[in-house]
Amino acid sequence: MSFQPGQIERPQGPLGVLLPGLGAVASTFIAGVELIKRGRAQPYGSLTQLQGDRLGKRPENRNPLIKDFVPLAELSDLVYGAWDIFPDNAYEVALKAGVLGPEVLKEVEGPLSEVKPWPAVFDQTYVRNLQGSHVKNPTHKMDMAEMIMRDIEDFKRRHRISRCVMVWCGSTEAHLKATATHKSLEALEKGLKENAPDIPPSMIYAYAAIRLGIPYANGAPNLSADIPALMSLAEELDCPVAGKDFKTGQTLMKTIVAPGLKARMLGLSGWFSTNILGNRDGEVLADPESFRTKEVSKMSVLDAIFQPELYPELYGKCYHKVRIEYYPPRGDAKEGWDSIDIFGWLGLPMQIKINFLCRDSILAAPIVLDLVLFLDLAKRAGLKGIQEWLSFYWKSPMCSPELSPEHDLFIQHMKLKNTLRILMGEEVIDHSGLDYYEALREVAGIYRA
Ligand SMILES: NC(=O)c1ccc[n+]([C@@H]2O[C@H](COP(=O)([O-])OP(=O)(O)OC[C@H]3O[C@@H](n4cnc5c(N)ncnc54)[C@H](O)[C@@H]3O)[C@@H](O)[C@H]2O)c1
Repeated sequence: MSFQPGQIERPQGPLGVLLPGLGAVASTFIAGVELIKRGRAQPYGSLTQLQGDRLGKRPENRNPLIKDFVPLAELSDLVYGAWDIFPDNAYEVALKAGVLGPEVLKEVEGPLSEVKPWPAVFDQTYVRNLQGSHVKNPTHKMDMAEMIMRDIEDFKRRHRISRCVMVWCGSTEAHLKATATHKSLEALEKGLKENAPDIPPSMIYAYAAIRLGIPYANGAPNLSADIPALMSLAEELDCPVAGKDFKTGQTLMKTIVAPGLKARMLGLSGWFSTNILGNRDGEVLADPESFRTKEVSKMSVLDAIFQPELYPELYGKCYHKVRIEYYPPRGDAKEGWDSIDIFGWLGLPMQIKINFLCRDSILAAPIVLDLVLFLDLAKRAGLKGIQEWLSFYWKSPMCSPELSPEHDLFIQHMKLKNTLRILMGEEVIDHSGLDYYEALREVAGIYRA
């Protein structure tokens, strides 16, 4: 372990939140934090703001809030910087996204208007359904990375910031498999200098952040930092990394329901998921290349939870299908339908139907907040590389190549809470309760004697 349990530096001064992609999620996150700071809203959905963590044995009754137990930055410490291919400031973006109404947004027009995006590193080859003019135009990808690093250094100087976290909130890029360019830092840097086609913009932002030792999280399913070259750089420069793809609507429901079915050894013959959504994310995902990236991310969940290789009779013949339909009238108010065919005792079939009328960005915004605060904590705690304890927040949790990712929301939650306990030098809780009954027996024995 490269950290000392219970020895985490307290946060001091402002924390820079760097957001490549100032769209619906990023603007809803910033608007939410500003409203919460002013006492105009509650941080529902955020573990860092609302959740308690039990410490020690149950009779001790120690249940502090995570934010009181762990040294996290305060909401008032956050300062935002963003990049986008459109020049709109965060207020204009939020109005257009239509997640929050104009009256609510008016209350935070001042701070939102101050967030003006820097020109983006963009290439339409990787996001075909978008076209924007607010972009950087150097000849080489390495120059683009250096321009991003300069944006960050200027931002830090201007706001007197010493700590930053970057969270990719940009559009989903076309599906890309890891190639030789991604295998080592040397190959990646050569590729950046020679404009290798297998280096998309999100990877250039990730490279720039990690080069500067800034923790990086990827809210979309594209590869971005999830390549050996950037993982080795993150290890070398003590940089925590997490991803990929915020776990929000339908996949959140899947990872809540599927572990329950598996725990009860109920069989599954099929799971059909479909969605309609009409925001810009939906428009981007209407392109088959971007949808493919999302599909791979969404599909991996069920196999990992049900383990068909261990339970072939229960889960070996499951038919899993995922569709996303772009339907403009709905905007950000997504609707998802899941039709789940299960079987129980003696093979008798049953059905479950889930109709989730959710709001994508309302579910994603608290995730951005928690990731910012937890990654900043991880950095101060001396953690580096993949932060598996943050799997809770992802559709496709990153993990070391020798391991398989954990998708079960309840195991992920326990992982997160136990990691916080370990970081703070507290006892890990295994929830067996055995030690508790053992202690009672000892007391009873004493009484009998
Ligand atoms: N909202 C959710 O529940 C949810 C869940 C999981 C993942 N995601 C992912 O999070 C990302 C953001 O979602 P959103 O709803 O805010 O989408 P959005 O379309 O509203 O915002 C994305 C923004 O990124 C910008 N962009 C694209 N390429 C860029 C680049 N190279 N550099 C800088 N900016 C760039 C776009 O112009 C756009 O403003 C998407 O990739 C989406 O798939 C969202």
